[in-house]
This record gives sequence, structure tokens and C-alpha cells, in this order.
Amino acid sequence: MNHSISVSIEDCHFAKEIYELFSRKSGSEHIASEVSLQYLTACLRVFKPSRVLELGAGIGTITETVLSHPCAVSELVSTETDPYCLSVLRKNLRSSGLQRLTVVTTPSELSRLKFVADMIIGDGGFYSTEEMSTARVGTVFFTEGRREKLRNAFTKELTAEGRTITFVNYGSVWKWEKGFRRRLGWTAFLPRFGKTKGCWIGIVRPFTRDRTG
Ligand SMILES: C[S@@+](CC[C@H](N)C(=O)[O-])C[C@H]1O[C@@H](n2cnc3c(N)ncnc32)[C@H](O)[C@@H]1O
Repeated sequence: MNHSISVSIEDCHFAKEIYELFSRKSGSEHIASEVSLQYLTACLRVFKPSRVLELGAGIGTITETVLSHPCAVSELVSTETDPYCLSVLRKNLRSSGLQRLTVVTTPSELSRLKFVADMIIGDGGFYSTEEMSTARVGTVFFTEGRREKLRNAFTKELTAEGRTITFVNYGSVWKWEKGFRRRLGWTAFLPRFGKTKGCWIGIVRPFTRDRTG
């Protein structure tokens, strides 16, 4: 069975407030896109996860989205290794969510928690077995942007365990984008018509031969 996630006006307002807040912060060049935050907000509203694993917290845009969402996530475990991000992460968050957050910096630290995730949000991380094995049947996997390597690693791990996942792309649109591109040995500032990254969402299912999603 395939899923279909629609973004509401309230999701858009919620995502916009967080995106604008974090895009003004130092180190914001790698933060999640506003459209991804809209779909993540919709997922939190629809699936109401209690325990969430976040892969690659960065400066905390997704962390804050999860902790301040009205679905009231009870526990968020976030992975991060970058020293700059670790130094600003907690300072960037509103204090109401801090006691529900655990930050881990190695796969073995995560493994010791024996964490089971209702939702996994991928925007970096270790690409480790320890992260993948927090999933159960019904776990929702959300990736910010394409994250093809992460989706493939996760799918491979699940398949080996007799489970499966089908990712669906949301929020991508075709548009002209300007940027420096290399053509025939020259670098030029050229427009390119392409699809924006959006986000990908899948749900872990038991493997059956006639699966459709
Ligand atoms: C796409 S970023 C994660 C962004 C995060 N989800 C957010 O929206 O704020 C992936 C990884 O890039 C690294 N990173 C992100 N921002 C950085 C910065 N300002 N300086 C150094 N590394 C950064 C971190 O290791 C992070 O886990």
C-alpha cells in the first residue's frame, strides 16, 4: 500500500517560522530546505511518532522542528560528529525540548541506547548498521533531499533482514537554476532546467512477493 502525504497551511506556517529562524543562524548553509521542513511537519502530524532518530543534526533545524512540533515526541536521539555543529546545537534550540534530546557522536554510543525508532530522519549521519537497526516494521523513514546513498544503504540492510521499504519523492519541482557549470573544459555561469531535491518518505514493511509500497 502506498502512502500519500499532503502539506496543510498550518504545516507551512510551522515550517516557515523554523526555516526563517535557522536560516539567520551562523553555519546555516547546509540546513534543510523549507519544502522538506513542510513535509517533515506533515509527517509528524500524520504519523505522530513517539521516538525519533535524527541522522546528522547539523545546527539543529530539523532537531527544533521535531522537538517543538505539537505531536509531542517523547524522545529524540540525534547523531552528529562535526565539532562546530556540536558546539552550537543545544544553544540553537528552545529550552522546552532539551530534556527530550540525546546527542550521540559514534555508532557504538547509539547501539548502547538500544533505541527503537518510530521515525528516522536522514540528513547525514554515520551510514552505519547501528542506525539502520533502530527500525522496525512501521518505522517511517524520511530523508531531506535525495540522500540516495543513505536510502540505498537502508533498503539493502532491510532486505537482508526480510523487510522492505519503498521511498516516494515529495516536494520536487522542475525549475531553472543558475550556477557555475563545467562544459568542454570551461566553467561558465549557466542556467539549467532541473528538478529540485524535495524529500523522500518510506515506511518499513514486512517483505511479501506482491508488495506495492
Ligand atoms: C545537511 S547537514 C545537516 C543539517 C541539519 N539537518 C539542519 O537542517 O540544520 C549534514 C551534515 O553536515 C555537517 N554540517 C552541517 N552544517 C555545518 C556547518 N555549518 N559546519 C560544518 N559542518 C556542518 C554536519 O556534520 C551535518 O550532520
